[in-house]
Amino acid sequence: MNYPPEPFRIKMVEPLRRVTQEDREHALREAGFNVFALRAEDVYIDLLTDSGTGAMSDRQWGAALTGDESYAGARSFFHLAEAMREVFGFRHFVPTHQGRAAENILCAVLLRPGQYVPSNMHFDTTQANVLARDGIPENLVIALAADPRSRDPFKGNMDLGRLEEFIGRVGASNIPFGMITITNNAGGGQPVSLENLRGVSAIYRRHGIPFYIDACRYAENAFFIREREAGQQGRPLRDIVREIFALADGATMSAKKDALVNIGGFLAMNDDDVFQRVCNELILREGFPTYGGLAGRDLEAMAVGLLEGLDEDYLAYRVGQTRYLGERLLEVGIPIVEPPGGHAIYLDAGALLPHIPHAEFPGQALCVELYRQGGIRGVEIGSTMFARWDAHTGEMHYPELELVRLALPRRVYTQAHLDYVVSVAARVRAGREALRGLRLTYAPPLLRHFTCRFEPL
Ligand code: F0G
Repeated sequence: MNYPPEPFRIKMVEPLRRVTQEDREHALREAGFNVFALRAEDVYIDLLTDSGTGAMSDRQWGAALTGDESYAGARSFFHLAEAMREVFGFRHFVPTHQGRAAENILCAVLLRPGQYVPSNMHFDTTQANVLARDGIPENLVIALAADPRSRDPFKGNMDLGRLEEFIGRVGASNIPFGMITITNNAGGGQPVSLENLRGVSAIYRRHGIPFYIDACRYAENAFFIREREAGQQGRPLRDIVREIFALADGATMSAKKDALVNIGGFLAMNDDDVFQRVCNELILREGFPTYGGLAGRDLEAMAVGLLEGLDEDYLAYRVGQTRYLGERLLEVGIPIVEPPGGHAIYLDAGALLPHIPHAEFPGQALCVELYRQGGIRGVEIGSTMFARWDAHTGEMHYPELELVRLALPRRVYTQAHLDYVVSVAARVRAGREALRGLRLTYAPPLLRHFTCRFEPL
Protein backbone atom coordinates (compact mmCIF):
# COMPACT_ATOMS: atom_id res chain seq x y z
CA MET A 1 0.00 0.00 0.00
CA ASN A 2 1.54 3.31 -1.09
CA TYR A 3 1.39 6.46 0.97
CA PRO A 4 0.79 9.48 -1.26
CA PRO A 5 3.54 12.10 -0.84
CA GLU A 6 2.13 15.26 0.74
CA PRO A 7 1.55 18.14 -1.74
CA PHE A 8 2.81 20.60 0.92
CA ARG A 9 5.67 21.00 3.32
CA ILE A 10 5.50 21.91 6.99
CA LYS A 11 6.20 25.52 7.97
CA MET A 12 4.85 25.63 11.52
CA VAL A 13 4.66 22.86 14.10
CA GLU A 14 2.69 22.18 17.26
CA PRO A 15 4.62 20.01 19.75
CA LEU A 16 2.93 16.83 20.95
CA ARG A 17 3.43 15.27 24.35
CA ARG A 18 4.14 11.54 24.69
CA VAL A 19 1.99 10.67 27.67
CA THR A 20 3.17 7.73 29.83
CA GLN A 21 1.06 4.61 30.26
CA GLU A 22 0.62 5.51 33.91
CA ASP A 23 -0.66 9.02 33.06
CA ARG A 24 -3.05 7.54 30.54
CA GLU A 25 -4.48 5.11 33.09
CA HIS A 26 -5.00 8.01 35.45
CA ALA A 27 -6.56 10.22 32.75
CA LEU A 28 -8.96 7.43 31.76
CA ARG A 29 -10.18 6.96 35.32
CA GLU A 30 -10.63 10.73 35.74
CA ALA A 31 -12.59 10.85 32.45
CA GLY A 32 -14.95 8.05 33.50
CA PHE A 33 -13.60 6.00 30.56
CA ASN A 34 -15.22 8.46 28.14
CA VAL A 35 -12.64 9.92 25.73
CA PHE A 36 -14.73 13.10 25.27
CA ALA A 37 -13.80 13.98 28.86
CA LEU A 38 -10.04 13.73 28.26
CA ARG A 39 -7.88 16.81 28.08
CA ALA A 40 -6.63 17.08 24.49
CA GLU A 41 -3.11 17.56 25.86
CA ASP A 42 -3.25 14.03 27.23
CA VAL A 43 -3.90 12.66 23.72
CA TYR A 44 -0.99 11.80 21.41
CA ILE A 45 -2.84 11.20 18.10
CA ASP A 46 -6.26 12.85 18.11
CA LEU A 47 -8.63 11.23 15.60
CA LEU A 48 -11.81 12.27 17.42
CA THR A 49 -12.98 14.34 14.44
CA ASP A 50 -11.95 15.87 11.11
CA SER A 51 -14.12 18.90 11.91
CA GLY A 52 -12.28 22.17 12.43
CA THR A 53 -9.10 20.28 13.28
CA GLY A 54 -7.27 20.77 9.97
CA ALA A 55 -4.16 22.86 9.35
CA MET A 56 -4.71 26.12 7.45
CA SER A 57 -2.22 27.00 4.70
CA ASP A 58 0.12 30.00 4.63
CA ARG A 59 -2.27 31.54 2.07
CA GLN A 60 -5.23 31.13 4.39
CA TRP A 61 -3.33 32.69 7.31
CA GLY A 62 -2.16 35.48 5.02
CA ALA A 63 -5.73 36.13 3.87
CA ALA A 64 -6.95 36.07 7.48
CA LEU A 65 -4.68 39.03 8.25
CA THR A 66 -6.45 41.05 5.55
CA GLY A 67 -9.91 40.39 7.05
CA ASP A 68 -12.28 43.36 6.84
CA GLU A 69 -14.04 43.53 10.21
CA SER A 70 -16.79 45.94 9.12
CA TYR A 71 -20.19 45.01 10.49
CA ALA A 72 -21.99 45.31 7.16
CA GLY A 73 -20.79 44.88 3.58
CA ALA A 74 -17.26 43.84 4.48
CA ARG A 75 -14.80 43.26 1.64
CA SER A 76 -14.16 39.78 3.08
CA PHE A 77 -17.80 38.83 2.50
CA PHE A 78 -17.47 39.66 -1.19
CA HIS A 79 -14.28 37.60 -1.45
CA LEU A 80 -16.20 34.67 0.00
CA ALA A 81 -19.17 35.34 -2.29
CA GLU A 82 -16.83 35.12 -5.29
CA ALA A 83 -15.48 31.72 -4.17
CA MET A 84 -19.04 30.53 -3.44
CA ARG A 85 -20.18 31.51 -6.94
CA GLU A 86 -17.16 29.85 -8.53
CA VAL A 87 -17.57 26.56 -6.66
CA PHE A 88 -21.31 26.09 -6.03
CA GLY A 89 -23.14 28.55 -8.28
CA PHE A 90 -26.15 29.15 -5.99
CA ARG A 91 -27.82 32.58 -6.32
CA HIS A 92 -27.74 33.34 -2.60
CA PHE A 93 -25.92 32.31 0.54
CA VAL A 94 -25.39 33.42 4.11
CA PRO A 95 -22.35 32.57 6.23
CA THR A 96 -23.01 30.79 9.54
CA HIS A 97 -20.68 29.99 12.42
CA GLN A 98 -20.80 26.27 11.60
CA GLY A 99 -22.89 23.57 9.93
CA ARG A 100 -25.54 23.04 12.60
CA ALA A 101 -26.36 26.76 12.59
CA ALA A 102 -27.19 26.51 8.88
CA GLU A 103 -29.36 23.46 9.63
CA ASN A 104 -31.14 25.32 12.42
CA ILE A 105 -31.96 28.28 10.19
CA LEU A 106 -33.12 26.08 7.32
CA CYS A 107 -35.44 24.18 9.68
CA ALA A 108 -36.69 27.38 11.34
CA VAL A 109 -37.66 28.83 7.98
CA LEU A 110 -39.05 25.80 6.12
CA LEU A 111 -40.13 23.10 8.58
CA ARG A 112 -43.50 22.89 10.38
CA PRO A 113 -44.32 20.44 13.18
CA GLY A 114 -45.24 16.95 11.97
CA GLN A 115 -43.49 17.33 8.58
CA TYR A 116 -40.94 14.87 7.21
CA VAL A 117 -37.36 15.36 5.99
CA PRO A 118 -35.90 12.41 4.04
CA SER A 119 -32.17 11.90 3.40
CA ASN A 120 -29.77 9.04 2.71
CA MET A 121 -28.66 9.42 6.36
CA HIS A 122 -28.96 12.56 8.44
CA PHE A 123 -25.91 13.45 10.50
CA ASP A 124 -26.81 13.63 14.21
CA THR A 125 -26.99 17.46 14.37
CA THR A 126 -29.23 17.53 11.28
CA GLN A 127 -31.46 14.89 12.77
CA ALA A 128 -31.56 16.79 16.08
CA ASN A 129 -32.41 20.07 14.33
CA VAL A 130 -35.32 18.42 12.52
CA LEU A 131 -36.53 16.83 15.78
CA ALA A 132 -36.12 20.11 17.67
CA ARG A 133 -38.78 21.65 15.35
CA ASP A 134 -41.03 18.60 15.89
CA GLY A 135 -40.20 17.33 12.41
CA ILE A 136 -39.58 13.69 11.51
CA PRO A 137 -36.22 12.76 9.96
CA GLU A 138 -36.14 9.69 7.68
CA ASN A 139 -33.04 7.75 6.54
CA LEU A 140 -33.36 6.01 3.16
CA VAL A 141 -29.81 4.86 2.36
CA ILE A 142 -29.33 1.66 0.28
CA ALA A 143 -29.27 -1.61 2.26
CA LEU A 144 -25.60 -2.28 1.35
CA ALA A 145 -24.63 0.59 3.65
CA ALA A 146 -25.16 -1.76 6.60
CA ASP A 147 -22.80 -4.41 5.23
CA PRO A 148 -19.24 -3.56 6.34
CA ARG A 149 -17.63 -6.12 3.98
CA SER A 150 -19.34 -4.95 0.78
CA ARG A 151 -16.88 -3.07 -1.47
CA ASP A 152 -19.67 -1.38 -3.43
CA PRO A 153 -18.17 1.91 -4.68
CA PHE A 154 -21.13 4.11 -3.63
CA LYS A 155 -22.52 2.84 -0.36
CA GLY A 156 -23.78 6.32 0.50
CA ASN A 157 -26.44 6.19 -2.24
CA MET A 158 -30.09 6.86 -1.55
CA ASP A 159 -32.46 3.95 -2.18
CA LEU A 160 -34.51 5.60 -4.96
CA GLY A 161 -37.30 3.05 -4.73
CA ARG A 162 -37.71 3.65 -1.01
CA LEU A 163 -37.62 7.43 -1.56
CA GLU A 164 -40.46 7.19 -4.11
CA GLU A 165 -42.40 4.91 -1.82
CA PHE A 166 -41.82 7.22 1.16
CA ILE A 167 -43.01 10.32 -0.70
CA GLY A 168 -46.06 8.41 -1.92
CA ARG A 169 -46.87 7.31 1.62
CA VAL A 170 -46.49 10.62 3.55
CA GLY A 171 -47.37 12.93 0.65
CA ALA A 172 -45.12 15.55 -0.99
CA SER A 173 -47.02 18.37 0.72
CA ASN A 174 -45.75 17.06 4.08
CA ILE A 175 -42.11 17.26 2.95
CA PRO A 176 -40.91 20.90 3.07
CA PHE A 177 -37.46 19.90 1.77
CA GLY A 178 -35.46 16.76 1.06
CA MET A 179 -31.77 16.24 1.71
CA ILE A 180 -28.76 14.05 0.96
CA THR A 181 -25.44 13.94 2.84
CA ILE A 182 -22.25 13.77 0.74
CA THR A 183 -20.18 11.87 1.78
CA ASN A 184 -22.35 9.89 4.20
CA ASN A 185 -20.65 10.50 7.54
CA ALA A 186 -23.19 8.55 9.59
CA GLY A 187 -22.65 5.57 7.26
CA GLY A 188 -18.91 5.07 7.07
CA GLY A 189 -17.93 8.20 5.11
CA GLN A 190 -19.13 6.50 1.92
CA PRO A 191 -19.74 8.56 -1.24
CA VAL A 192 -22.89 9.08 -3.31
CA SER A 193 -22.65 8.60 -7.09
CA LEU A 194 -23.48 11.33 -9.58
CA GLU A 195 -26.03 9.01 -11.15
CA ASN A 196 -27.75 8.62 -7.76
CA LEU A 197 -27.69 12.39 -7.18
CA ARG A 198 -29.34 12.87 -10.58
CA GLY A 199 -31.98 10.31 -9.62
CA VAL A 200 -32.67 11.93 -6.23
CA SER A 201 -32.93 15.36 -7.83
CA ALA A 202 -35.35 14.08 -10.48
CA ILE A 203 -37.60 12.53 -7.85
CA TYR A 204 -37.62 15.60 -5.58
CA ARG A 205 -38.23 17.88 -8.58
CA ARG A 206 -41.04 15.76 -9.97
CA HIS A 207 -42.80 16.11 -6.59
CA GLY A 208 -41.96 19.81 -6.21
CA ILE A 209 -39.83 19.18 -3.10
CA PRO A 210 -36.89 21.60 -2.62
CA PHE A 211 -33.60 19.65 -2.57
CA TYR A 212 -30.84 20.66 -0.11
CA ILE A 213 -27.43 18.97 -0.05
CA ASP A 214 -25.49 18.55 3.21
CA ALA A 215 -22.23 19.48 1.53
CA CYS A 216 -19.65 19.09 4.36
CA ARG A 217 -17.46 16.67 2.41
CA TYR A 218 -18.59 17.44 -1.14
CA ALA A 219 -15.03 17.71 -2.50
CA GLU A 220 -14.04 14.26 -1.25
CA ASN A 221 -17.33 12.96 -2.70
CA ALA A 222 -16.57 14.57 -6.09
CA PHE A 223 -13.12 12.98 -6.04
CA PHE A 224 -14.65 9.53 -5.51
CA ILE A 225 -17.09 10.15 -8.37
CA ARG A 226 -14.24 10.86 -10.72
CA GLU A 227 -12.24 7.90 -9.48
CA ARG A 228 -15.00 5.29 -9.35
CA GLU A 229 -17.93 6.22 -11.59
CA ALA A 230 -18.19 5.08 -15.19
CA GLY A 231 -17.80 7.97 -17.61
CA GLN A 232 -16.43 10.43 -15.01
CA GLN A 233 -12.70 9.64 -15.27
CA GLY A 234 -10.59 12.56 -16.37
CA ARG A 235 -13.39 15.10 -15.90
CA PRO A 236 -12.28 18.29 -14.09
CA LEU A 237 -13.44 18.18 -10.46
CA ARG A 238 -14.86 21.71 -10.72
CA ASP A 239 -17.15 20.45 -13.47
CA ILE A 240 -18.40 17.53 -11.42
CA VAL A 241 -19.01 19.85 -8.46
CA ARG A 242 -20.95 22.31 -10.62
CA GLU A 243 -23.14 19.52 -11.93
CA ILE A 244 -23.82 18.21 -8.40
CA PHE A 245 -25.00 21.56 -7.08
CA ALA A 246 -26.95 22.44 -10.23
CA LEU A 247 -29.10 19.40 -9.34
CA ALA A 248 -30.05 20.99 -6.00
CA ASP A 249 -31.99 24.03 -4.78
CA GLY A 250 -29.63 24.75 -1.91
CA ALA A 251 -27.03 23.42 0.49
CA THR A 252 -25.93 23.48 4.11
CA MET A 253 -22.25 23.17 4.85
CA SER A 254 -19.92 22.93 7.79
CA ALA A 255 -16.84 24.62 6.31
CA LYS A 256 -14.84 22.96 9.10
CA LYS A 257 -14.49 19.96 6.81
CA ASP A 258 -13.77 20.37 3.09
CA ALA A 259 -13.33 24.17 3.24
CA LEU A 260 -10.29 23.67 5.49
CA VAL A 261 -11.11 26.17 8.22
CA ASN A 262 -11.28 25.86 12.00
CA ILE A 263 -14.70 27.54 12.19
CA GLY A 264 -17.39 28.48 9.64
CA GLY A 265 -20.26 27.28 7.51
CA PHE A 266 -23.00 28.47 5.19
CA LEU A 267 -26.56 28.05 4.02
CA ALA A 268 -27.04 28.54 0.26
CA MET A 269 -30.13 28.57 -1.91
CA ASN A 270 -31.61 29.78 -5.21
CA ASP A 271 -35.07 30.83 -4.04
CA ASP A 272 -35.40 34.61 -3.48
CA ASP A 273 -38.21 34.34 -0.97
CA VAL A 274 -36.45 31.68 1.12
CA PHE A 275 -33.32 33.84 1.09
CA GLN A 276 -35.29 36.80 2.41
CA ARG A 277 -36.69 34.76 5.31
CA VAL A 278 -33.32 33.16 6.00
CA CYS A 279 -31.74 36.62 6.31
CA ASN A 280 -34.31 37.62 8.91
CA GLU A 281 -33.76 34.46 10.95
CA LEU A 282 -29.99 34.82 10.57
CA ILE A 283 -30.06 38.34 12.01
CA LEU A 284 -31.89 36.98 15.03
CA ARG A 285 -29.63 33.94 15.59
CA GLU A 286 -26.23 34.43 13.97
CA GLY A 287 -25.57 37.99 12.83
CA PHE A 288 -25.93 40.35 9.90
CA PRO A 289 -26.13 38.51 6.53
CA THR A 290 -22.67 39.62 5.39
CA TYR A 291 -20.89 38.01 8.34
CA GLY A 292 -23.29 35.48 9.90
CA GLY A 293 -21.55 34.84 13.22
CA LEU A 294 -18.01 34.92 11.80
CA ALA A 295 -15.20 37.47 11.92
CA GLY A 296 -14.01 39.02 8.65
CA ARG A 297 -10.77 37.02 9.00
CA ASP A 298 -12.78 33.78 9.15
CA LEU A 299 -14.59 34.71 5.92
CA GLU A 300 -11.23 35.32 4.20
CA ALA A 301 -9.79 32.00 5.39
CA MET A 302 -12.91 30.23 4.16
CA ALA A 303 -12.79 31.92 0.73
CA VAL A 304 -9.25 30.60 0.22
CA GLY A 305 -9.97 27.24 1.89
CA LEU A 306 -12.93 26.47 -0.37
CA LEU A 307 -10.67 26.53 -3.42
CA GLU A 308 -7.75 24.73 -1.73
CA GLY A 309 -10.16 22.00 -0.64
CA LEU A 310 -10.98 21.34 -4.31
CA ASP A 311 -7.36 21.19 -5.44
CA GLU A 312 -6.78 17.92 -7.30
CA ASP A 313 -3.35 17.16 -5.80
CA TYR A 314 -4.63 17.88 -2.32
CA LEU A 315 -7.63 15.58 -2.75
CA ALA A 316 -5.54 12.74 -4.21
CA TYR A 317 -3.33 12.99 -1.12
CA ARG A 318 -6.27 13.33 1.26
CA VAL A 319 -8.27 10.36 -0.01
CA GLY A 320 -5.03 8.36 -0.50
CA GLN A 321 -3.99 8.97 3.11
CA THR A 322 -7.31 7.67 4.44
CA ARG A 323 -7.11 4.66 2.12
CA TYR A 324 -3.55 3.95 3.32
CA LEU A 325 -4.69 3.84 6.94
CA GLY A 326 -7.65 1.59 6.10
CA GLU A 327 -5.71 -0.91 3.99
CA ARG A 328 -2.85 -1.12 6.54
CA LEU A 329 -5.35 -1.82 9.32
CA LEU A 330 -6.88 -4.60 7.21
CA GLU A 331 -3.37 -6.04 6.66
CA VAL A 332 -2.86 -6.43 10.42
CA GLY A 333 -6.26 -8.07 10.81
CA ILE A 334 -8.42 -5.19 12.03
CA PRO A 335 -11.90 -5.40 10.47
CA ILE A 336 -13.13 -2.05 9.13
CA VAL A 337 -16.05 -0.69 7.15
CA GLU A 338 -14.96 -1.32 3.58
CA PRO A 339 -14.02 0.26 1.28
CA PRO A 340 -12.16 3.05 3.15
CA GLY A 341 -14.22 6.27 3.07
CA GLY A 342 -13.03 9.83 2.53
CA HIS A 343 -12.43 11.35 5.93
CA ALA A 344 -12.26 8.46 8.38
CA ILE A 345 -11.77 4.77 8.93
CA TYR A 346 -14.47 3.00 10.91
CA LEU A 347 -13.16 0.04 12.93
CA ASP A 348 -15.62 -2.84 13.27
CA ALA A 349 -15.41 -3.38 17.03
CA GLY A 350 -18.32 -5.83 16.98
CA ALA A 351 -16.36 -8.16 14.67
CA LEU A 352 -13.05 -7.66 16.52
CA LEU A 353 -14.50 -8.27 20.00
CA PRO A 354 -17.32 -10.79 19.45
CA HIS A 355 -17.09 -11.95 23.08
CA ILE A 356 -18.28 -8.53 24.35
CA PRO A 357 -22.08 -8.22 24.03
CA HIS A 358 -23.79 -4.98 22.89
CA ALA A 359 -24.85 -4.29 26.47
CA GLU A 360 -21.19 -4.08 27.51
CA PHE A 361 -20.16 -1.61 24.79
CA PRO A 362 -17.55 -3.32 22.58
CA GLY A 363 -16.93 -0.08 20.66
CA GLN A 364 -16.30 1.84 23.85
CA ALA A 365 -13.98 -0.94 25.06
CA LEU A 366 -11.94 -0.66 21.84
CA CYS A 367 -11.90 3.13 22.06
CA VAL A 368 -10.61 2.99 25.64
CA GLU A 369 -7.95 0.42 24.74
CA LEU A 370 -6.59 2.46 21.82
CA TYR A 371 -6.11 5.33 24.22
CA ARG A 372 -4.73 3.19 27.03
CA GLN A 373 -2.14 1.50 24.83
CA GLY A 374 -1.23 4.30 22.46
CA GLY A 375 -2.71 7.66 23.47
CA ILE A 376 -4.95 7.50 20.37
CA ARG A 377 -8.40 9.06 20.56
CA GLY A 378 -11.22 7.87 18.28
CA VAL A 379 -14.95 8.01 18.84
CA GLU A 380 -17.38 5.18 19.52
CA ILE A 381 -20.27 4.95 17.06
CA GLY A 382 -22.25 2.08 18.50
CA SER A 383 -24.33 1.28 21.54
CA THR A 384 -23.10 4.22 23.62
CA MET A 385 -24.43 6.56 20.93
CA PHE A 386 -27.43 4.63 19.58
CA ALA A 387 -28.82 2.02 22.00
CA ARG A 388 -32.46 2.91 22.74
CA TRP A 389 -34.80 1.79 25.48
CA ASP A 390 -38.24 0.89 24.15
CA ALA A 391 -40.74 1.84 26.85
CA HIS A 392 -43.53 -0.21 25.20
CA THR A 393 -41.73 -3.55 25.05
CA GLY A 394 -39.31 -2.91 27.93
CA GLU A 395 -36.43 -3.96 25.69
CA MET A 396 -33.14 -2.34 24.71
CA HIS A 397 -32.61 -1.85 20.97
CA TYR A 398 -28.99 -2.04 19.91
CA PRO A 399 -27.50 -0.77 16.65
CA GLU A 400 -26.42 -3.41 14.15
CA LEU A 401 -22.85 -2.15 13.98
CA GLU A 402 -20.48 -1.41 16.86
CA LEU A 403 -17.93 0.95 15.32
CA VAL A 404 -15.04 3.17 16.35
CA ARG A 405 -14.38 6.07 13.98
CA LEU A 406 -10.82 7.24 13.43
CA ALA A 407 -11.30 10.59 11.64
CA LEU A 408 -8.29 12.20 9.97
CA PRO A 409 -7.77 15.93 10.48
CA ARG A 410 -6.77 17.53 7.16
CA ARG A 411 -3.05 18.17 6.48
CA VAL A 412 -2.12 17.36 10.09
CA TYR A 413 -0.67 13.86 10.57
CA THR A 414 2.12 12.17 8.61
CA GLN A 415 2.69 8.60 7.44
CA ALA A 416 4.75 7.88 10.57
CA HIS A 417 1.79 8.92 12.74
CA LEU A 418 -0.52 6.59 10.83
CA ASP A 419 1.99 3.71 10.99
CA TYR A 420 2.06 4.25 14.73
CA VAL A 421 -1.76 4.02 14.85
CA VAL A 422 -1.59 0.75 12.89
CA SER A 423 1.02 -0.73 15.25
CA VAL A 424 -1.02 0.19 18.34
CA ALA A 425 -4.17 -1.30 16.75
CA ALA A 426 -2.22 -4.51 16.00
CA ARG A 427 -1.12 -4.70 19.65
CA VAL A 428 -4.71 -4.18 20.83
CA ARG A 429 -5.80 -6.96 18.47
CA ALA A 430 -3.16 -9.35 19.83
CA GLY A 431 -4.58 -8.91 23.34
CA ARG A 432 -8.22 -8.76 22.29
CA GLU A 433 -9.38 -11.92 24.05
CA ALA A 434 -8.48 -10.47 27.44
CA LEU A 435 -10.45 -7.25 26.81
CA ARG A 436 -13.61 -6.77 28.85
CA GLY A 437 -16.58 -4.46 28.39
CA LEU A 438 -17.83 -1.53 30.43
CA ARG A 439 -20.79 -0.62 32.57
CA LEU A 440 -22.51 2.80 32.47
CA THR A 441 -22.40 4.67 35.79
CA TYR A 442 -24.00 7.90 34.51
CA ALA A 443 -25.95 8.75 31.37
CA PRO A 444 -28.01 11.85 30.51
CA PRO A 445 -31.28 11.26 28.60
CA LEU A 446 -30.19 12.82 25.26
CA LEU A 447 -26.93 12.67 23.25
CA ARG A 448 -25.46 10.67 26.09
CA HIS A 449 -22.16 9.75 24.42
CA PHE A 450 -20.75 13.23 25.08
CA THR A 451 -21.01 13.18 28.87
CA CYS A 452 -21.77 9.64 30.08
CA ARG A 453 -19.37 7.82 32.40
CA PHE A 454 -18.36 4.16 32.65
CA GLU A 455 -16.51 1.73 34.85
CA PRO A 456 -14.67 -1.31 33.54
CA LEU A 457 -16.22 -4.75 34.09
N1 F0G B 1 -23.34 17.40 8.61
C1 F0G B 1 -22.39 16.44 8.62
C2 F0G B 1 -22.40 15.39 7.58
C3 F0G B 1 -21.38 16.48 9.61
O1 F0G B 1 -20.45 15.53 9.61
C4 F0G B 1 -21.39 17.51 10.58
C5 F0G B 1 -20.38 17.56 11.64
C6 F0G B 1 -22.41 18.48 10.52
C7 F0G B 1 -23.37 18.40 9.51
C8 F0G B 1 -22.52 19.60 11.52
O2 F0G B 1 -21.51 20.54 11.32
O3 F0G B 1 -20.19 20.43 13.46
O4 F0G B 1 -20.01 22.38 11.90
O5 F0G B 1 -22.05 22.07 13.22
N2 F0G B 1 -19.64 16.59 11.90
C9 F0G B 1 -18.56 16.54 12.90
C10 F0G B 1 -18.03 15.14 13.01
C11 F0G B 1 -18.89 17.13 14.21
O6 F0G B 1 -17.19 14.89 13.90
O7 F0G B 1 -18.38 14.30 12.20
P1 F0G B 1 -20.92 21.41 12.55
